Amino acid sequence: MALLEILTFPDPRLAKKAKPVDVVTPATTQLIEDMFETMYEAEGVGLAAPQVGVLERIIVVDCGKREAEEERPLQPKEPYAIVNPVVVEKDGKLVWEEGCLSVPGYTDEVERAATVRVEGLDKHGNPISIEAEGLLAVCLQHEIDHLEGVLFVDRLSRLKSSMVKKKLKKRALEEAATA
Ligand code: NI
Repeated sequence: MALLEILTFPDPRLAKKAKPVDVVTPATTQLIEDMFETMYEAEGVGLAAPQVGVLERIIVVDCGKREAEEERPLQPKEPYAIVNPVVVEKDGKLVWEEGCLSVPGYTDEVERAATVRVEGLDKHGNPISIEAEGLLAVCLQHEIDHLEGVLFVDRLSRLKSSMVKKKLKKRALEEAATA
């Protein structure tokens, strides 16, 4: 197991489209385990491979703890790793205050589908299908966005998105200068 470095905005790799995984190999399984460890260490509820510099379609999520804290009576409370995830059904609308390990220090409300069904492969390459609502649905859509090079700040209104990204870029430059 290894902790991986989490890229932060405006790293250009976060804006790239990830490639599908052809075959789930032991290296894929290892990457997934490292992603989980990295996510838990950073106290996140989801992580996508591009966030650790790997441009492959792999995500991990675990919303169980956060949901328990918020006492939301939501279903599957367990960690999920999904290879080549695809949203095959979605319904309704839900606004959630989102954050991202790649956009530290900023949260904002984003509107997404309220329920989704996501299909893909598990860490051993077996097909899986997950029906989700609430935070898990938000998480899955947020992480799948990362595979398209899309951050939650790209989902804000055009004006707000450009303002926020400008501010975040400025802050990243200042932090790099004082580091
Ligand atoms: Ni994120």
